Amino acid sequence: MELVILDTAEAIAERAADKIEALLTTKPDAVLGTATGSSPLPLYDELTRRCAAGRLSFAQVTGFMLDEYVGLPAGHPERYATFMEVNLRSRVDMRPGSLHGPDALAEDLQAACAQYEEDMAAAGYCDLQILGIGSDGHIGFNEPGGPLDSRTHVDVLTEQTRRDNARFFGGDIDAVPTHCITQGLATIMEARSLVLIATGEGKAKAVAQLVEGEVSTDWPATVMQRHDDALVLVDPAAASLLT
Ligand code: F6R
Repeated sequence: MELVILDTAEAIAERAADKIEALLTTKPDAVLGTATGSSPLPLYDELTRRCAAGRLSFAQVTGFMLDEYVGLPAGHPERYATFMEVNLRSRVDMRPGSLHGPDALAEDLQAACAQYEEDMAAAGYCDLQILGIGSDGHIGFNEPGGPLDSRTHVDVLTEQTRRDNARFFGGDIDAVPTHCITQGLATIMEARSLVLIATGEGKAKAVAQLVEGEVSTDWPATVMQRHDDALVLVDPAAASLLT
């Protein structure tokens, strides 16, 4: 696992975009794993700029989202499908319908999880997976305590995660869903490259565990230590508890 500390969120976005640009140059029909939340937003801005400038194209790219809330109706602004449509898909030349997510509106959620895993397997899993990290160490929505070999499943969001994400729901923790569908840790680890972005001091403890802790279900992101091509991009605040 490679750790790079960069001064600003913009510098991090550029570094992550360089990696994606290199991938799309050699493999225009790459499979890209996308994350939601605030961490990748500067990256999506940078990818949008590079696409507009003709430096890269998503025309042949297939995307797979990491996760989706259960319980939000279609079109809800905080649904991750909406988030990805607004912040990436519609801003670049990615074909409508080419960015997939788990069907968290399905009646049978277990079947929806199995279907999503099957769809990802059929696509050969991701060439590159973009990740953020929760302050409790989750990646995707794999919350602490879950097995390291999990596949796409329904997970229960921790109180900490719901508190962290209340900012997207008008500050109201009760408006934050309690459940989600997420790629499992083993699903995420299938990606040929992982690029994790963490900014701000709220991520410092999770980053310290990710980089310096033992691999443990208590800090799910630590499983990334076992990946051959994992890049961790952090700002000085997120790096502040590293020894
Ligand atoms: C989002 C996701 C989560 C977030 C994490 C950090 O699809 O899977 O793991 O990356 O909760 O969220 P932000 O970036 O909002 O701090």
